Amino acid sequence: MSQASKELIPWAEQAIRERLKGGRLAHSFSVAETAVSLASIYGEDQDDARLAGLLHDWDKQLGDAELLARVADLGLELPQEVLDMPILLHGPTAAAALRREFPQIPERVLSAIHLHTVASVEMSPLDMIIYVADKIEPKRSSRDAQFIRDEVGQVSLRELFIDAYGSSIIHLVKRHRYIYPGALDVWNPLVTEYRKSPAYREQAQGRAK
Ligand SMILES: [Fe+2]
Ligand SMILES: [Fe+2]
Repeated sequence: MSQASKELIPWAEQAIRERLKGGRLAHSFSVAETAVSLASIYGEDQDDARLAGLLHDWDKQLGDAELLARVADLGLELPQEVLDMPILLHGPTAAAALRREFPQIPERVLSAIHLHTVASVEMSPLDMIIYVADKIEPKRSSRDAQFIRDEVGQVSLRELFIDAYGSSIIHLVKRHRYIYPGALDVWNPLVTEYRKSPAYREQAQGRAK
């Protein structure tokens, strides 16, 4: 149990109610619930998961220009290819702004908030829980989301994250959307490592039968 996160949950519930509206607000609570459920299944801290889920879209209501102004104000140094895609900025800006305004939020929670848009090869269990919860919370109705939901508890958290990340890329390809070039820098090392794992070999054998 994370005492720091537990104590911040009532504040975070109120703060996010004041900050987001409608579907975005409902999504934040839904991600928090899904993250708690994933944390319980995969043996991770449920208070950290709830706090990170509640706060992950802290900056989601900001427009592109506001996000870029926030990057400058916070002194964030981000690669140009991230700056070129404002949709990715709300994770890094939220984490940095929350760190500045509320230093009592644990760093592991801020990391999960930061990485829920850009991801990374190095994801902690909490980072992966928030990334996956954001994709599969019950309000997400796509077939891809259902595929990942069906894997919960059946595969490791790492595999679950890899499949959720892969399905995000497929989603963009299917809709003819631009893909952030850094996505491949995450995807390639992830699958290179995964293909060496016993879990992958088992799956490959299953497919060969
Ligand atoms: Fe988000
Ligand atoms: Fe979200």
